[in-house]
Amino acid sequence: MTSKFYVTTAIDYPNGAPHMGHAYEKIVADAYARWNRFLGNETHFLTGTDENGQKLIESAKAAGEETAPFVDKQVLKFKELISKLNISNDDFIRTTEKRHADVCTDLWNTLSNGGEIYPGKYSGKYCLACESFYTDLQAPEGICPEHHKPLTLKEEEGYFFKLSNYHTWMVDYLKANPDFVVPKSKYNEILSRLEGESLRDLAISRPNQGWGVPVPNDDKFVMYTWFDALINYYSALNDDQKKFWPASMHVIGKDILWFHAVIWPCMLKAAGLPLPKQVYVHGMILAEDGKKMSKSLGNGVDPMDMVAKYPVESFRYYLLRAISAGSDGAFSEKELVQKHNSELGNDLGNAIMRVVKLSLKIIDPKVDGVDVPEELNFKDTFTRMKTAMEACEHNKALDALWESVNKVNQYVNEKEPWRLKEDPQALKVVVYNCLFGINQVALLISAFMPETAAGLLGPLGVGFTKFEETKFGEVVYNLTNPEPLFPKIEN
Ligand code: ME8
Repeated sequence: MTSKFYVTTAIDYPNGAPHMGHAYEKIVADAYARWNRFLGNETHFLTGTDENGQKLIESAKAAGEETAPFVDKQVLKFKELISKLNISNDDFIRTTEKRHADVCTDLWNTLSNGGEIYPGKYSGKYCLACESFYTDLQAPEGICPEHHKPLTLKEEEGYFFKLSNYHTWMVDYLKANPDFVVPKSKYNEILSRLEGESLRDLAISRPNQGWGVPVPNDDKFVMYTWFDALINYYSALNDDQKKFWPASMHVIGKDILWFHAVIWPCMLKAAGLPLPKQVYVHGMILAEDGKKMSKSLGNGVDPMDMVAKYPVESFRYYLLRAISAGSDGAFSEKELVQKHNSELGNDLGNAIMRVVKLSLKIIDPKVDGVDVPEELNFKDTFTRMKTAMEACEHNKALDALWESVNKVNQYVNEKEPWRLKEDPQALKVVVYNCLFGINQVALLISAFMPETAAGLLGPLGVGFTKFEETKFGEVVYNLTNPEPLFPKIEN
């Protein structure tokens, strides 16, 4: 049975250039999108940029530019990264687009007409970088927990969303839906925070400085950037695509969990819209020294530099396999090179090179499966990968797959086909089993490393097929000389 799968990333602030965290999040979400397409699910994948923040006015000023052209220029960098990373998004939303503003306006009106929004005065401790007020519980020292900068006192007139009305409902919802936030540690964090503090109404407008989505019927104000930003997941869907709502999976980092696991569900509930099925929280990419990447520490790594220097497939593989899903991970260029040379070059690249080259040398390039018993089958690998992906543990899916890659190599080592020249039938059995093994690996790797999948299937002379429909004995291979997929990188 095919089902619908709608996956989103957070929308990035285009103030600066895209960083490693942006690259990582997109690669992770891409793996889930491609995996679901591979399973035959009708998939929609959205990413984009969060452009209405007041911070952008400041960043443009600092660059000596007008806000709109500055933002347009910045967004191109994000689009370029997406293209370099081979991200398969179906759509890219910019929150300065009309389609977004229109839906935000509608949703605001719905909430306002339903008595969920009211005008009032707010005062509290505010962080300009987060564009967010903090309670004493969240920031007891008056320091922003995200930016580690002092908060400033701020009093504002504006509009409020009755978030406080949803406290009990939200706690009950989380309790009834223990998979709503993954991993479990993050689910527990949200639940215990909600059990420890009551929800306060949320200030959802800011004074209008000529940038942002105007509040309907009161253009002295624009919508608070988080309020409009969250709506992107819904506003991006046109009438034909609305069938994808609710989203299956919001892929985000832990610093913005509260917005996605509490504020967004409450907004949707208040508007009478269905809630996303899951919020998947990935870990943070840290510098090699285990610290947060930062300009001042000089320990940052630019993802564009990485894809200029190394094959994008190796970069994707490294991030997806070496960093445990849901945990923070230190990015190490050295480890990336090591993995490229060993796991990709020696394990996977070698498996196909030795089998196909040997076959071309000693048997016909056409290899069929007539009278060949099955000695290598990866149905179990497929099942294990499915389970891992359902649990949002993509690195474990790759662990399972690599057991199969190693099995192909072990099988070749044990059977020593180069000694079977005099026994064409025995040779064919080994070769066919290896080719079928590589064929299965190619299909299973496609969500993580799409070009590698194509690079493996090409020399086998077969196209991309569904895993379950790729039957042992039925596939006929027409071999051609393979190009090395992962030429060694000298350290
Ligand atoms: O938060 N490692 O945008 P953003 C991994 N516009 N992920 C990281 C990271 C790191 N070092 N640093 C940031 C915003 N991220 C808002 C989102 S969504 C309606 C609005 C992740 O550009 C971060 O957790 O600061 C978030 O998921 C994404 O990058 C965009 O961060």
